[in-house]
Amino acid sequence: MTSKRELQIAYGMAIILFIVGFISFAAFSAKSPEQPLRTMFKCAAGKVFFDHQTHTSDMGYGMSCRDCHHNLEEGETEDIQPCGECHEAESDDEDVLKRMDAFHNQCIGCHKDYEAGPGSGPEECQLCHVM
Ligand code: HEC
Ligand code: HEC
Ligand code: HEC
Ligand code: HEC
Repeated sequence: MTSKRELQIAYGMAIILFIVGFISFAAFSAKSPEQPLRTMFKCAAGKVFFDHQTHTSDMGYGMSCRDCHHNLEEGETEDIQPCGECHEAESDDEDVLKRMDAFHNQCIGCHKDYEAGPGSGPEECQLCHVM
């Protein structure tokens, strides 16, 4: 039979573990990364997953921020804006690509450039638009 005292200890432990877990979680989340790890674009042609971290980390493909956030000054990362701030879905401005073309040209363009290298990213529709 479990004694009342044992039960109290068990409850006490559970509460402490919960608090420790919560604090670690809060501390970890408060250290917000300077870039989102993964992004999912919900779009009419099917959702697109983009693994930001793998594209940038040295263990991954080691791209620099400016390879994609092309409007940044060297060394600057504070001023990163979503692409759609400038590349609007509908626009009459002939000098700036529309949203879909901006993404397609940049993503697929780079994947093509890497074709001859160690490995290239997807170029076919359904390899990006997965769902
Ligand atoms: C391979 C291309 C690529 C590289 C390299 C890249 N990014 Fe991004 N980043 C993106 C795309 C695409 C988005 C999503 C933009 C959107 O939603 O319009 C994004 C979004 C972001 C956002 C969120 C912007 C917002 O307000 O929603 C931040 C912050 C960011 N990137 C930081 C970085 C940093 C810091 C680096 C360098 C360490 C970096 N990125 C490298 C493509 C890239
Ligand atoms: C602050 C505004 C701004 C933001 C944010 C921005 N762009 Fe652009 N982009 C432009 C302008 C203006 C041009 C045309 C002039 C030029 O080439 O710089 C352009 C050109 C391009 C081009 C044509 C090729 C090139 O590099 O010249 C591509 C592709 C592109 N943008 C994709 C993107 C993607 C993808 C993002 C987000 C990761 C993004 N842009 C964020 C303003 C922006
Ligand atoms: C500056 C170059 C560059 C740009 C821009 C770029 N990629 Fe990639 N991508 C790569 C490389 C290199 C690989 C690695 C392929 C390999 O190792 O076989 C890759 C791989 C991928 C993969 C498959 C593996 C993984 O990591 O998920 C997907 C999906 C992908 N990219 C999506 C995108 C999308 C979506 C965009 C635009 C928002 C994009 N990429 C922009 C270079 C780029
Ligand atoms: C490298 C990855 C990639 C490949 C390959 C790709 N796309 Fe996309 N596509 C994207 C991204 C990223 C977006 C931007 C999603 C957004 O607007 O949030 C997009 C947007 C679109 C849109 C706009 C949908 C909307 O909601 O406005 C259409 C349509 C589309 N793609 C069709 C295609 C077709 C057709 C192909 C093959 C010929 C293709 N895509 C290949 C990544 C890709």
